[in-house]
Order: sequence, then structure tokens, then C-alpha cells
Amino acid sequence: MIDRAAPAKIRAKGVAKTFSSEGRDVVALQPVDLAVAEGEFVCILGPSGCGKSTLLRIVAGLIAPSAGSATLDGRPITGPGPERGLVFQEYALFPWLTVMQNVMYGPLVRGLGRREAERRAKTQIARVGLEGFEQHFPRQLSGGMKQRVGIARVWANQPDVMLMDEPFGALDAITRNILQRDLLKLWLEERHTVLFVTHSVDEAIFLADRVVVMSARPGRITAIVPVEAPRPRDLLAPESITLKAELTRLVEDQVMGARGEPSRLREYVN
Ligand SMILES: Nc1ncnc2c1ncn2[C@@H]1O[C@H](COP(=O)(O)OP(=O)(O)O)[C@@H](O)[C@H]1O
Ligand SMILES: [Mg+2]
Repeated sequence: MIDRAAPAKIRAKGVAKTFSSEGRDVVALQPVDLAVAEGEFVCILGPSGCGKSTLLRIVAGLIAPSAGSATLDGRPITGPGPERGLVFQEYALFPWLTVMQNVMYGPLVRGLGRREAERRAKTQIARVGLEGFEQHFPRQLSGGMKQRVGIARVWANQPDVMLMDEPFGALDAITRNILQRDLLKLWLEERHTVLFVTHSVDEAIFLADRVVVMSARPGRITAIVPVEAPRPRDLLAPESITLKAELTRLVEDQVMGARGEPSRLREYVN
């Protein structure tokens, strides 16, 4: 069980972001407050362009907020760090390195000896089900396999926190379901803290302890919905279907609201 009284692993307090480009200000994120407990799996769900990636990139330390602060273990986030592993939709593998070399890269850069780096890489490659593909190059792999390498590569660095930005968004539905199941299995083994961005309601229900719903641009948090069903979850079970309807309404309501249509779910909007 997650101890909600424990200090937050990740905390965002009044985090907002305005981008200035070509003399024009784009408000990407309105002030957001969020606390993620250690070992918690939180999904950020919202329509495209609502600032999900912006929020994740702030937590990753890739961009600085315009206002507010983000902390990790109570310390301000000022840049990227090895305790936060990032997985993006684009696989971000080095095309000129083999699977093995891609996964070993992080540990080697962090000063581990070759033998230890190799051992770690082997373990992680096996965990994501790619034993036998160590000497393949990324171009020889399917999208799903590349994303598995991406996950193994992050895990080889033994991060505390996984930041995942629509990691399965580019995959076909079947591959996506398999990867979701596998990710969940691996998460149940190690219980990293995970912040996972998605625009898929099903994905959020399948994976998350809590679903953070964001409004259409400029984004803000409009609801935080716990998912209490035990894992692995059956998306066709009555409670999943009820939750799916609720979350879909919340997200669609945001999109409709952005078009100037009246909100049907005012009670959720804070
Ligand atoms: N570097 C940037 N410069 C200008 N505008 C940006 C930049 N990054 C994101 N934005 C804008 O901020 C908004 C939120 O973007 P993003 O966080 O990528 O949304 P999401 O991930 O939810 O699709 C979008 O309107 C986007 O165009
Ligand atoms: Mg995005």
C-alpha cells in the first residue's frame, strides 16, 4: 500500500510554464500542484497539447518552470539526474550501437566497469524479453522491440523514478497491450515511482494507482482519480467500464470546454 503520509517522492507546487517564441507567449501549463508518493504509479491523462510533456519535462529537469517549484525527495529539481530515467515515444536509441551497447551505455558513462555494465545490460535485456537480440542493431528491430530496449536502457541505470512520455503511443494496439502488461509486471517486481503520460483512457486505467486528468491548453489539473481495482485489471469488468466512462467524459469535457461548449461536469472542475 502507498503511504500517503510519507513525504512525496515528486512534488510540484504551483508549477507553471509559459513559452515565448517569436515574441509571442504560449501558456503551456497553468499552475499545477501534484504529489507523487514513493512507489506510486501515476498517469497524467489529457488531450493533445494540454501540457503533459511540459510537466514531465519539468520533473525531468529538461526545462525550468516559469513559476512554482518541482522537488524530488524534497530537493529542488535543477536539471536531469541519474535517479530519473526517461522513456519517450521516440525510441532515442543510438542507431550505430547494438542492443547490448545501447543498454550498456548508461552504466559505462556512469563509470561502471565493462564487466559490471555488461552484467547489468544482460539482466535488463532478459527482463524485457529480448534475450538473443543483444547483437542486433535498432534498425533490425520492430517498434515494440525498440521500446523494450529503451526501457531496458533506462533500467540499467537503476533509477528511482521512471518518467515515461507516451512510450507506447507509436505502437500498434496489440504490441501496446503486451508492453503495458510487461511494464506492469516489471513494476510490480521493483516498484519504481512512475510518472506516465498518456492520452489513452484505457492505458491509464490499466496501469495507474491514480489518474491525473488535465484540461485542454493551457493545461491544469482538473481531477485526480484513484484506480482501486486489483491488478492485473480487466478493462471489460463493470468497474473498469464505469471508470472508463467517467474518465472519458472528463477528458472529452475538457476538449468540448476548450471549444466554448458548456461543461457537463462542473463538479469535477476545481
Ligand atoms: N518549446 C516550446 N516552445 C513553444 N511552445 C511550446 C514548446 N513546447 C511546447 N509548447 C506548446 O505548449 C503546449 C503544450 O505542449 P505539450 O506539453 O507538448 O503538450 P502535450 O504533451 O500534452 O501534447 C502546446 O501548445 C505546445 O505547442
Ligand atoms: Mg506530449
